Amino acid sequence: MKEVDIELFVNGKSYRLRVSTGLSLLEVIRDQLGLTGTKEGCAAGDCGTCTVIIDGEAVNSCMILAFQADGRHITTVEGLAEDGRLHPLQESFIKHGAVQCGYCTPGMLMSAKALLDKNPDPDRRTIREAMAGNLCRCTGYYQIIEAVEDAARTMVATRATAAAGAEASTAKAGEGR
Ligand code: FES
Ligand code: FES
Repeated sequence: MKEVDIELFVNGKSYRLRVSTGLSLLEVIRDQLGLTGTKEGCAAGDCGTCTVIIDGEAVNSCMILAFQADGRHITTVEGLAEDGRLHPLQESFIKHGAVQCGYCTPGMLMSAKALLDKNPDPDRRTIREAMAGNLCRCTGYYQIIEAVEDAARTMVATRATAAAGAEASTAKAGEGR
């Protein structure tokens, strides 16, 4: 099979790779980049376990060829934690018991992150719709939806606190003038 050179930006890092044109992005992420957090379930676009975020959109990485992602910015589950701290979604999944066998979890987290990045305060129906392509055989979904709702609340509150803190600092700096 033909091979091509591509560059992927994964979790903020650039990777220059030679890939076979027949390989899916999922295969390259797992086998060439060694980022095995992204799971393969059906390899046919039906289960969502392979979900990653490409330029802001949740995408089934088994359904896109790696060379089609050339030059794109990709986030995998390994890119969620920052400075050694779990993402609020990860914290919330643990808190709400939304992880059982865990196989669906990376895909669930990435679909939820793509949603909250676009819509920080979604209602339950919107969350259900955004997660509809992600299958879970263990949890019955209730805890997952609850975890996403709770993470959204936490993230909105954290942002509000940070904004209030920044405003207070600006006001204080202004007093000294
Ligand atoms: S492994 Fe990609 S959708 Fe199932
Ligand atoms: S936790 Fe097992 S498939 Fe979802």
